[in-house]
Amino acid sequence: GAPVEVDISKMESGQLIRVAWRGKPVWVLNRTPEVLSTLATLDSKLADPVSNESHQPDYAKNSLRALKPEIFVAVGLCTHLGCSPTFRPEIAPNDLGPDWKGGFFCPCHGSWFDLAGRVYRGVPAPTNLEIPPYRYVTDSLIMIG
Ligand code: FES
Repeated sequence: GAPVEVDISKMESGQLIRVAWRGKPVWVLNRTPEVLSTLATLDSKLADPVSNESHQPDYAKNSLRALKPEIFVAVGLCTHLGCSPTFRPEIAPNDLGPDWKGGFFCPCHGSWFDLAGRVYRGVPAPTNLEIPPYRYVTDSLIMIG
């Protein structure tokens, strides 16, 4: 499959862009400062907080799972059986529970991922969301693949 360019110059804080790469959904999320500070508090609730058991390029094997902190790029397929999780960015109690901290919720069998695609403990998905290879062509243009 051909690489896919994503122009992030007009992205607003908190916005998610969906593109297709090799027939898979890929998400590009512009994370807010509130999201970034929340992510730093979640490690003890996660199955693989530093992504030792998960799939990502070496340059995304860090706690934010990204080249640049704000911009998160991930394959939007659950690592359980491949459903596409729902984007639920709100950092507040909601219908998913009293402790929801923002993330992706897979409706198929109830897996939860944080906004770095890190899977919570005790859900069916075994590993974090996959991070595809990507690079910055310029500060406002990402090449995926
Ligand atoms: Fe996502 Fe099963 S496919 S929880």
